Amino acid sequence: MATEPKAGAKSMKDVLLAKLTERKAIIGVVGLGYVGLPLALEFARAGFHVIGYDVNKGVVDALMRGESHIKDVPGADVAELVNAGKFETTGEESRLRDTDAISIAVPTPLAKTRDPDMTYVIAAADAIARNCHPGLLIVLESTTYPGTTRDLMQPKLEAAGLTVGEDVFLAFSPERVDPGNPTWNTKNTPKVVGGITAACTEVASALYASCLETIVPVSSTETAELVKLLENTFRSVNIGLVNEMQIVCDKLGVNVWEVIEAAATKPFGFMKFTPGPGIGGHCIPLDPHYLAWKMRTLNYKTRFIDLASEINSEMPALVVQRVAQALNDQRKPVNGSRILVLGVAYKRDIDDMRESPALDVIRLLEERGAEVVYHDPHVASFREDGHERLSVPFSDAELGRADAVVIITDHSSVDYQRVVDVAALVVDTRNATAGLRKSGKDTNTKAAPDMALA
Ligand SMILES: NC(=O)c1ccc[n+]([C@@H]2O[C@H](COP(=O)([O-])OP(=O)(O)OC[C@H]3O[C@@H](n4cnc5c(N)ncnc54)[C@H](O)[C@@H]3O)[C@@H](O)[C@H]2O)c1
Repeated sequence: MATEPKAGAKSMKDVLLAKLTERKAIIGVVGLGYVGLPLALEFARAGFHVIGYDVNKGVVDALMRGESHIKDVPGADVAELVNAGKFETTGEESRLRDTDAISIAVPTPLAKTRDPDMTYVIAAADAIARNCHPGLLIVLESTTYPGTTRDLMQPKLEAAGLTVGEDVFLAFSPERVDPGNPTWNTKNTPKVVGGITAACTEVASALYASCLETIVPVSSTETAELVKLLENTFRSVNIGLVNEMQIVCDKLGVNVWEVIEAAATKPFGFMKFTPGPGIGGHCIPLDPHYLAWKMRTLNYKTRFIDLASEINSEMPALVVQRVAQALNDQRKPVNGSRILVLGVAYKRDIDDMRESPALDVIRLLEERGAEVVYHDPHVASFREDGHERLSVPFSDAELGRADAVVIITDHSSVDYQRVVDVAALVVDTRNATAGLRKSGKDTNTKAAPDMALA
C-alpha cells in the first residue's frame, strides 16, 4: 500500500508528469487495430518511445517490417518510426513492465445475446495487472458500459497491492476516430479524459496533451464512458429517425432526399443525417447496446436505443423488398436473377466490412434464390460463413449482365454515370445516382427505378 510521500520526496504523480513533459516516459499501446495503431504512432511522433503490444502475431510482425494493416495508416509512416527506434511491437506481455503509461484499445464486441463481450478488456487488464508497477498510468480507450473502469479494471490493479490515484493512475478516454475522414484525425479530434481520482485525470490529460491538440477533462470515468455512448447513441437514434422518414416518404410518394436537403438549409436547430441500407462498423450498431445492457441491470429500459436499433436493423430487408419490387416491375422474379451489389464496406471510401449491412442484403437476396456478385474498389475479397467472395471487375460486361445493380455503399471512385448508362435496373440506397440520367436520353427520363417500397 502506498504511503504519503516523505517531505521533499516526489510523489508518483510528479515523477510521471515530469517523465511525460520530458518525453522520457515509455508508452505502451495494447491492441494495434483501427484505434490503437494511429494512437501509437501519434505518441511516437511526439517523441516518446512506444511499445505496441498485440496478441495477433501477424500484426506484430508485419508492423515491425513497416507494413500497415490499417488503410488510414501508411506503411511508410510505420517504417519511418520503427527505423527511428521510436516504435516497436511485441507479442510478449512482459514488455508492458517497461512502460510508464498504457492505452488500451482492444475490441468490445457484443455476444450473440447482444450483451457486452468483455473478454478482450478482461484479458488486457489481467495482462497489465500481471506486469503492473508503481508509477504506471493505465487508460482504457475501448468503448464500454459506464462503470467498467472502476468496477472491472480498478479491482484488478488493487489486487496487485497498488492504490489507484497514489501508486498507479487509472482513467477512461474514449476514442473518436472516424475512419476515412480527411479532416478529423487522432491528433486534431478533441480528447475526453476522466480519471478515477483527480490525480488520475491530471496525469492522463498530460499524457494526451503531449501529442493531441485539445483535451477535455471530465469529472469521472463514468462520465467519460457515457460521453462516448451518448455520441454513438445520438447517431444511432438520428439515423433511425431518417430511416423511418424514408419509409414515411416512400409511402407518401415524396423524395426523402429532397426533404432532407431542404430541411438542412435551416441554419439552426437541424442536423443532417441520411438514410441508408442499415448501419455498420464497430461502433454505431454495437455501442448503444452497451448502455442498454447496463440500464437493464438497473431495471430501466432504454426505449430510444431499442427503437432505433429495431428500425435500423430492418433496413436490409427493406432494400431486398425494393429490389424484388423493381424486378417485379420488369416481370422478373428475384429467384434466378443476377444481382450486382455495388459497395460492401459499411461506409464510403473505407475497406471496413464489420457489421456491414451489405452482408445482410446479400444473404437475404440469396435466400430468395438470387445469384449475387459484388464489386467494391476497397474490398478485393471477403469471407463470410466460411465462403470466400471475390470482387468482380467494374465493367460494362458485369453491369450489363446483372438484372439489377444495388448500390449499398457510395464509394466516391465509382463512375455512377456508367452504372446508370449500362445497368438494366439500379436500386440506389445512397442517392449516389442523384441527378444522373441515361446518356443521350431526354432530361425527363428516370435514371433509376422508383424506390417505392413494396
Ligand atoms: N474502429 C473505430 O472506428 C472505433 C472508433 C472509436 C472507438 N472504437 C473502439 O475502440 C476499441 C478498439 O477498436 P478497433 O476498431 O481498434 O479494434 P480492432 O479489432 O481494429 O483492433 C483491436 C486489436 O486488439 C488486439 N487484441 C485483442 N485482444 C488483445 C489483448 N488481450 N491484448 C492485446 N491486444 C489484443 C487485436 O489483435 C487487434 O489487433 C473498441 O472498443 C471500439 O469500440 C473503435
